Amino acid sequence: MRAIRTSIIEYFEKNLRFNKTMQSRVHTAQTRVERPSKVKYDPERKMTALQFSGKDKIKVGKVPVPLVTDPTDAVIKVTASCVCGSDLHLYHDKVPEMLDGDIMGHESVGIVDEVGPEVKNVKKGDRVVISSVIGCGQCDYCLRREWSCCDTTNTSQVETKMYGHHVSGLFGYSHLMGGYDGCQAEYVRVPFADVNLFSIPSVLTDKQALCVADLASTGYHGTELADVKEGDKVVIFGCGPVGLMAQMWSKFRGASRVIAIDVDAQRVEYAKKQLGVEVVNANEEGPLEAVEKLIPGGPDKIIECVGFRFPQGFFEKLELKLKLATDASSVVNLAIKMVRKNGKITLIGDYLAYTNHFNIGAMMEKHLTMNGGAVWPHNYYKKIFAAMETGKVDPTFVWTHTFPFSKGDEAYKMFDKHEDGIIKPLLLPDSIYNQSNAGMDKTTQ
Ligand SMILES: NC(=O)c1ccc[n+]([C@@H]2O[C@H](COP(=O)([O-])OP(=O)(O)OC[C@H]3O[C@@H](n4cnc5c(N)ncnc54)[C@H](O)[C@@H]3O)[C@@H](O)[C@H]2O)c1
Ligand SMILES: [Zn+2]
Ligand SMILES: [Zn+2]
Repeated sequence: MRAIRTSIIEYFEKNLRFNKTMQSRVHTAQTRVERPSKVKYDPERKMTALQFSGKDKIKVGKVPVPLVTDPTDAVIKVTASCVCGSDLHLYHDKVPEMLDGDIMGHESVGIVDEVGPEVKNVKKGDRVVISSVIGCGQCDYCLRREWSCCDTTNTSQVETKMYGHHVSGLFGYSHLMGGYDGCQAEYVRVPFADVNLFSIPSVLTDKQALCVADLASTGYHGTELADVKEGDKVVIFGCGPVGLMAQMWSKFRGASRVIAIDVDAQRVEYAKKQLGVEVVNANEEGPLEAVEKLIPGGPDKIIECVGFRFPQGFFEKLELKLKLATDASSVVNLAIKMVRKNGKITLIGDYLAYTNHFNIGAMMEKHLTMNGGAVWPHNYYKKIFAAMETGKVDPTFVWTHTFPFSKGDEAYKMFDKHEDGIIKPLLLPDSIYNQSNAGMDKTTQ
């Protein structure tokens, strides 16, 4: 037992060690698009940024302001940002290759502060959403509009060893995902600005537009991957911000039944109140039995919006603690048992590496389809802007609490612990927080 454990740990330590060479300029084999250069900074100007500082620790630091480094870059002055459930995986120190001092965050909106000479689509002063996922716009994957598979923006050799390929870069998400500075900061450098910035229609507020960077796009991506159609019966695991968005879009696309499951009673109630979905509190009743009562034979589609970090039962917790697996499989196995025969399961919750006890037999014998992946905001932002402009959806109900950057550590803590009914913390630069009518939201003042 001990020998197996040691060899698995050794395997991960060996394979997950940071490979500094991936930070250098490289060419991808297929496309020969240049990876963005390592960012340069203005040593004279300092800004506030939320920095990773070890397990459960976020530091509010002062760091140099980034500069336009490549001719296709822009630097954005951030006007609003937020914390994602994915940031909590970093916060719990579960994602390899996150270094002390790395800037967090992949969801922000702001104003273009500076552009490189080759940027055409945006100019200084424009209001923009920054895509969480970084595409190059030129590789074969980007040309097929499969943005989070971009071949250029992340060349992690560690990831290639783990996954057989490297996926795209993501702001503020470890060196496994490209080592880009995050956007929970007053300024952020955006590579391939023409591709990764979306101009905000003047009628939309920052709170609306910010939903497009990740959460509303991610919820939509879940319904796209699951191919939710008129009349479908859909179950969504998770009533965090992403699960709520998947529920909202499933209704928007005409699902006849939408059932939301969570273990947090407050979140389940919030889903029911805000979206009028049917709900199951998995702490109070077995989700398999509860869903079988509501949809005999099982739903057509299941969208999993929970992720790898929630083991169930003593043995799964022990296995993860002993590093005999990196990821919990219990929610996925529940979904495999729950979905109807020849049904579809989409994984939108983040999974990292290896899991035990995967019910591969049911997967095959029930004729199931399973897919998943990180969001493609570039494909959805126009549709989402339009749906918000016409009032068909309003995802802003997720913003329950607002924090200034200087209290970013509290935002993480509260969001992680689900304190005070928090759903999604909005983060504002202190200057904006102090001016704005923060009384519109619950605050930590
Ligand atoms: N695919 C993507 O591009 C993408 C983008 C954003 C977020 N994510 C991932 O989506 C997931 C959800 O994000 P979020 O911001 O809503 O995070 P979150 O942590 O706020 O939400 C997760 C929810 O799952 C619930 N949960 C835990 N165990 C459960 C169980 N056994 N059954 C049902 N629910 C359970 C939690 O109570 C919580 O409400 C995370 O894993 C995040 O990393 C993926
Ligand atoms: Zn995210
Ligand atoms: Zn690309």
